Amino acid sequence: MSKNNQPTTIVIFGATGDLTQRKLIPGLFSLFCKGLLPDRFAIVGFSRTDWSDDDFRQQMLAGMEELAPEMLNEAKWPDFAPHLHYLPGDATEPAAYDTLQTRLTELEDGSANRLYYLSTAPRFFEPIVTLLGEAGMVAAAESESETAVWRRVVIEKPFGHDLASAQALNQVVHAVLNEDQIYRIDHYLAKETVQNLLVFRFANTMFEPIWNRNFIDHVQITVAETVDVGHRADYYDQSGVMRDMFQNHLMQLLALVAMEPPAAFDADAIRDEKVKTMRAIRPLTTAEICRQTVRAQYEGYRDTEGVATDSETATYAALELYIDNWRWRGVPFYLQSGKALAHKVSEIIVQFKEPPHMMFTIPPDEPIPANYLALCLQPHEGFHQRIELKEPGRAVKLRSVDMDFRYEALFQPESVPEAYETLLNNALEGDATLFTRGDGIEAAWRIIDDVLAAWQSDKAPPVVSYAPGSWGPDEAAELLGKKRRRWHHGCVSQ
Ligand code: BG6
Repeated sequence: MSKNNQPTTIVIFGATGDLTQRKLIPGLFSLFCKGLLPDRFAIVGFSRTDWSDDDFRQQMLAGMEELAPEMLNEAKWPDFAPHLHYLPGDATEPAAYDTLQTRLTELEDGSANRLYYLSTAPRFFEPIVTLLGEAGMVAAAESESETAVWRRVVIEKPFGHDLASAQALNQVVHAVLNEDQIYRIDHYLAKETVQNLLVFRFANTMFEPIWNRNFIDHVQITVAETVDVGHRADYYDQSGVMRDMFQNHLMQLLALVAMEPPAAFDADAIRDEKVKTMRAIRPLTTAEICRQTVRAQYEGYRDTEGVATDSETATYAALELYIDNWRWRGVPFYLQSGKALAHKVSEIIVQFKEPPHMMFTIPPDEPIPANYLALCLQPHEGFHQRIELKEPGRAVKLRSVDMDFRYEALFQPESVPEAYETLLNNALEGDATLFTRGDGIEAAWRIIDDVLAAWQSDKAPPVVSYAPGSWGPDEAAELLGKKRRRWHHGCVSQ
């Protein structure tokens, strides 16, 4: 992480919401404690609630005490708190932007960079960007010393609820902002081990030569959560697991695992490759989607307050996708994600092919063992290479073992920054590598739209149920089982 020392103002729209207390203020405070915020900075909360500066400071402190106590350095908070300011206002009212501009000008007392963080409900993204534009608050201005200052806008997820709405939103933001001013959040990209995927693949020469259809049988991506929808039913019942997790997090992981080596470690080179990969995902016909997808709901979901009693919203899904390019043609990518599952784990399993000829004796009911690489994204970050060994003794008996690398064995837990801290730092630094570009969002929606449309058709697979605390429905095991494959949880028992 690094520091830009120009005066900077961070304006948080939707500042009274949960995300501000849970992630944004802890992330900014951590950057402050590490000396990574400029010497002159202000954080301005903007929301409808009628708070004063003092209310905002107290609420943020209470939020940190409750939600992020491990990040609260009490000795440093009194130095941080005076940088927090608050302005009540309605972000859909043009007049509010005059008041905001006046307040920001007073606080800045000279030229300053501005990061506008849209942490509001998605329906406010369009009006806020438009009104910022109309108020002349996002055009980069020249400072008195002729040093350019910047204006950037961070947009939270979800970016659209389907392809058409994402395209419409892209049009609105592009009418006001250049793409290099827009930072679309996907917090999975800032997880330390997700970033490590790039280093793992492209700083080692061992894996790249075998990272293709000649050696890899299939790839599995699992993002499992133990939590259920809790109090988020109003939002969740409208989006479901496809919009909430697949369109963003799982598609991004798929792109990072499958993309071609970028020419440079910069935002556009990496995002170009990711988009190319997503565009190469084979479009599925309705019939294929019905055969190659599973949708399910955990038992009891429809009894949750805020969920329609006849809701068909999937809280779990599994997909089988194919990437039609030279590297991956014919290799299935199995993606699964769900709530109320047995473990919280995010992992990628790269399953290598079976040995072409097995000269050792394998018990008749056991599959021929094949190597796999488990990339563990959370919670036990690291990777495990599954290999076969001979058990000691006179008989030649095979045994599967793991060669392990675990982050926790090498690094202190506090050396791994929280995803939002990394994202805030990168947005302040102008590094968009870990943010999604407009064309990437649209490429992901194209796949998800097809699935959602097929699920609305009369050929749709039924919404099956699964027991909370299980690994999902039997149908998910069958999706792999019918091709003599099975889901591995290479990161769970570690
Ligand atoms: C969010 C989803 O994007 O990611 C949530 O909206 C989900 O439903 C969360 O719980 C999972 O994030 P993490 O970092 O806990 O894996």
